[in-house]
Amino acid sequence: MIGSGRFGLIRGVCAQGLLLVFLGVAPNVWAEDEGELMAWKYHCVTCHGQTGISSAPRYPNLAGQTSAYLVSRLKYFRDEIEPRNQMNAQAVLLNDEEIDLLADYFSRQVFK
Ligand code: HEC
Repeated sequence: MIGSGRFGLIRGVCAQGLLLVFLGVAPNVWAEDEGELMAWKYHCVTCHGQTGISSAPRYPNLAGQTSAYLVSRLKYFRDEIEPRNQMNAQAVLLNDEEIDLLADYFSRQVFK
């Protein structure tokens, strides 16, 4: 029936909308602090893990590093000193405050 097809489409679009809203607000609900929120917002968690333990061997673990070291690395990437480094595209999006928050968050994660 044409009618049910149209309603099916509307239902599908609504469900997708709800999913996008959920994905957008979810980290705001479960993130414990602003640094963690940044890690989700900028997708750092995809490669470096929510707890700073990376998802694959080609990505370095961030847990257990000092905040000062992480800040210096992020600014190095942001300045694009090493052309074509995969991290450059991630770091150019960050301002100083966000770098501080992210470095603070990952430095508080325990390496185990
Ligand atoms: C697509 C995967 C990917 C994403 C997303 C990503 N990174 Fe990285 N990150 C890497 C890779 C690969 C390296 C290793 C680069 C190198 O050292 O040459 C790295 C290195 C780093 C380092 C240096 C670690 C060290 O031991 O020197 C820091 C700090 C870092 N990333 C922080 C972040 C933050 C914060 C975010 C989110 C804004 C982020 N990364 C997003 C892949 C990623």
